[in-house]
Amino acid sequence: MEQLVHQIEAYRQEVAAFEATSPDAVEEFRIKYLGTKGIVKAIMGEMRNVPNERKKEFGQVLNDFKLVVEAKYETLKENNANLQTSDSKLIDWSLPGDPVPVGTRHPLNIVRNQIVSIFKRLGFAVAEGPEIEDDWHNFGAMNLPEDHPARDMQDTFYINQNPSWLLRTHTSSVQARVMETQKPPIRVICPGRVYRNETISARAHCFFHQVEGLYIDENVSFADLKQTLYFFVQEMFGKDVKVRFRPSYFPFTEPSAEMDISCLICGGDGCNICKHTGWVEILGSGMVHPNVLENFGIDSNKYTGFAFGMGVERITQLKYQVNDLRLYSQNDVRFLKQFTGVV
Ligand code: DAH
Repeated sequence: MEQLVHQIEAYRQEVAAFEATSPDAVEEFRIKYLGTKGIVKAIMGEMRNVPNERKKEFGQVLNDFKLVVEAKYETLKENNANLQTSDSKLIDWSLPGDPVPVGTRHPLNIVRNQIVSIFKRLGFAVAEGPEIEDDWHNFGAMNLPEDHPARDMQDTFYINQNPSWLLRTHTSSVQARVMETQKPPIRVICPGRVYRNETISARAHCFFHQVEGLYIDENVSFADLKQTLYFFVQEMFGKDVKVRFRPSYFPFTEPSAEMDISCLICGGDGCNICKHTGWVEILGSGMVHPNVLENFGIDSNKYTGFAFGMGVERITQLKYQVNDLRLYSQNDVRFLKQFTGVV
């Protein structure tokens, strides 16, 4: 028994002096002292050889020893956990981290940003305005006559509480607000959502997105309009794309033109997207009507300007071959995920 107590004392010192500098050493310690075939178990086994009247005393010594070993083990483990995070050899920093799922930019926002950045490089500023408009900014100021069919309730959403309010049908209303508050030279683009009273289908929706543009200064000509829009197309779709202008009519521009680009899907040979013409329309444009300038006190003898408007959905359709307008607003991640990584 005395011998055993001495032995325990020797182990105690050994335990106190034990140092571990790696997780393996800590594990060695555990196995040596606390394992099923370890020292603590072995000494417990000696209990049966201790005379009955000293069992209590020995039990005390043994229990103390066990507590010391366990406390030491906890300390070693703790120190080692710190070691592990500070020791680059133990952690493989080259392993990929846990993935954090992030959303993706909506394709319409991607394309809107691309359009905006192209025009910004040409010196256009961005202007925004309200989606709920009054008749003047949406129609009247833009030279639409009182009886113009666009004003019809079949085409435009009016606000019940106040029939002189409506959901803007184009961002020309923002052009109006810019002319109201700024003096030429004016060079702005107006991105934003617009609303029309349409039955929803693959080709029409009750809302869509536009980017309109307005440039007013002295000596602005149709040549400026053509070159600006041609530059835009080349930046957006590539240098090989051809453009053509077709005469058209808008109340707010005179002359007016619609611009087509050569079909990107079939390269101009003719397909379903271009209705076998080889061309697809992408925007409306024209020289700002003198009446519009005069509506805002801009001298139409001194200043001229051009304006244009395009649908972001249409540009996105051509760029990414999205063939159903409804996909843009259905929130289907299988569709949206395809734009991961596009910025
Ligand atoms: N506002 C027209 C539309 O929504 C697009 C447009 C055409 C805008 C010609 C213009 C323009 O500024 O000059 O269909």
